[in-house]
Amino acid sequence: MSEKAKTHFGFQTVEESEKARKVGEVFHSVARKYDLMNDVMSAGLHRAWKRFTVEVSGVRPGDRVLDVAGGSGDLSRLFANKVGPEGQVVLTDINASMLAVGRDRLIDAGKAVPALQCDAEKLPFPDQYFDCVIVAFGLRNMTHKDKALAEMQRVLKTGGRLLVLEFSQVWKPLAPIYDAYSFKLLPIMGKLLANDADSYRYLAESIRMHPDQETLKQMMLDAGLGKVDYYNLAAGVVALHKGWKT
Ligand SMILES: C[S@@+](CC[C@H](N)C(=O)[O-])C[C@H]1O[C@@H](n2cnc3c(N)ncnc32)[C@H](O)[C@@H]1O
Repeated sequence: MSEKAKTHFGFQTVEESEKARKVGEVFHSVARKYDLMNDVMSAGLHRAWKRFTVEVSGVRPGDRVLDVAGGSGDLSRLFANKVGPEGQVVLTDINASMLAVGRDRLIDAGKAVPALQCDAEKLPFPDQYFDCVIVAFGLRNMTHKDKALAEMQRVLKTGGRLLVLEFSQVWKPLAPIYDAYSFKLLPIMGKLLANDADSYRYLAESIRMHPDQETLKQMMLDAGLGKVDYYNLAAGVVALHKGWKT
């Protein structure tokens, strides 16, 4: 009998078929407190990283933008401002609880952004459809990152850009303090603010298992993008990769 394929869920090794369910439990649990936790954990810095992403995207009025794993919709809202009424932004996420938060926030902000539940590994869009695809803090949670990247590349127009904003490898001298923060403080904050220490333990572990800057760059090239650059933000706590479809 053939061995079942394995992958990581944080530091645990799990069957591939199990990972999406476990990730789903994390985001169903944290959805309502997700935005508050982001602000507290990053001391508001995630807002600057997201604004920087929009600036680097080269998106213009009238463009079509896909927000993959868009959750509570921060990037969709910023891109909706950028593309204006002639453009289009689509918010997508695999998780109904996260998507509901995102959809409600966009409605409250007066943005006409459709919200669609789908898996990044099987995007329900035609080839060559979007000017820009963004995935922020989502790729790390996906079971087959290569498939998801290939799908994002497929739906981009030639000349379009794929932006991957994700936790990455921090500058080595800062690693001890960053580890102490992630493994000791984060779960306590998760417990106090979201009544969920485990999900924030998973966050810290999943960051350590995620490919570093150069590895992710190579994965994006392997997915078919013609050129990839990246920016380290906050000493590599986060990296923004930008790939062009050529
Ligand atoms: C940390 S949140 C990021 C939300 C938002 N992009 C942001 O930057 O605030 C990660 C999101 O990835 C979504 N996700 C995980 N696996 C996915 C998949 N295979 N396809 C689509 N979304 C996925 C989760 O449901 C969750 O909403």
